Amino acid sequence: MKANNDIRNSLLHTLSSGEFCSGQHLAEHLGVTRAAISNHVKALQALGLDIFSLQGKGYRLSQPLSLLCEETIQSQTKGNLIINSVVDSTNQVIKDKHKELPQGSVCLAECQTAGRGRRGKVWQSPFGANLYLSMLWRFDSGYQALDGLSLVIGLAVSNTLEQLYGLSAQLKWPNDVYVNNKKLGGVLVEVEGQFGGACSTIIGIGLNVAMPKQIDIDQPWVDLTQILPHAINRNELASTLINTLRDTIAEFEKKGFSGFVAPWQKKNVFAERQVNLINGKQVISGICVGIDERGGLLLKQEDKVTAHYGGEISVRSAE
Ligand code: BTN
Repeated sequence: MKANNDIRNSLLHTLSSGEFCSGQHLAEHLGVTRAAISNHVKALQALGLDIFSLQGKGYRLSQPLSLLCEETIQSQTKGNLIINSVVDSTNQVIKDKHKELPQGSVCLAECQTAGRGRRGKVWQSPFGANLYLSMLWRFDSGYQALDGLSLVIGLAVSNTLEQLYGLSAQLKWPNDVYVNNKKLGGVLVEVEGQFGGACSTIIGIGLNVAMPKQIDIDQPWVDLTQILPHAINRNELASTLINTLRDTIAEFEKKGFSGFVAPWQKKNVFAERQVNLINGKQVISGICVGIDERGGLLLKQEDKVTAHYGGEISVRSAE
């Protein structure tokens, strides 16, 4: 007997063109009853998919859906690839298997039911709308080799968008991707391992491609569909991003962070702007004058420049 997930994947593939498909046809095609089709449609609707039905015509998606295709992405990249329809979090999938997975393994998903962001926030992850990607990278030299890693990842995302679409996305320290002062994507790096020994990083990237308007997000956001005049091919985007990430992280591992400081500063959304650094209840104000060789944010207050580190800090414009 086919598993629920397999049936739902086939059902979505059949509906992905955005055309009507009768319940009878779907039931015959997938080898289940019409009642079962109705239940699978309900389960997909619960994941945020806009499927509706019309008496006598059948089921239809409100708009065509371009699904991630393992064969396509595999043919355009090297290395281990896991594509799942629905996961709790792609970072968690990699984390659970990190000991046995090869270097550079990637997990992609159509939907995350418990997508996580920085500072304990939820990352909204509706089905088929965006890109949710995690990559495993082991660093033999341990934690001290990770300074600046998350900034390097933001830079790799921005470079991918420039290469594919000629888009100049900016970076908000430490690793948010911004266009027109709105958030387009974010990076969450999680680390497994012990101080002093080798460690594994789980590098998670969320990139808004076609976020449904009704999704509730607590800050100004934008997606690629609003920015670009053409449809986005998520398979091409995923493949290019995977290749750029693997090349960029390999270079970072070999040469360290110093070569990435100047390219990062060129994209700094807050360069020479008045900002507030928020760390819990503490707020520090100053002018953002760049980053140092460890990836810390440099803040100028009167004539003194101080460096600030840590995943719990967030930066806001104070203008
Ligand atoms: C942020 O808060 O800006 C970071 C968001 C990171 C989201 C991505 S989506 C893929 C990966 N899996 C997760 O659960 N989170 C990251």
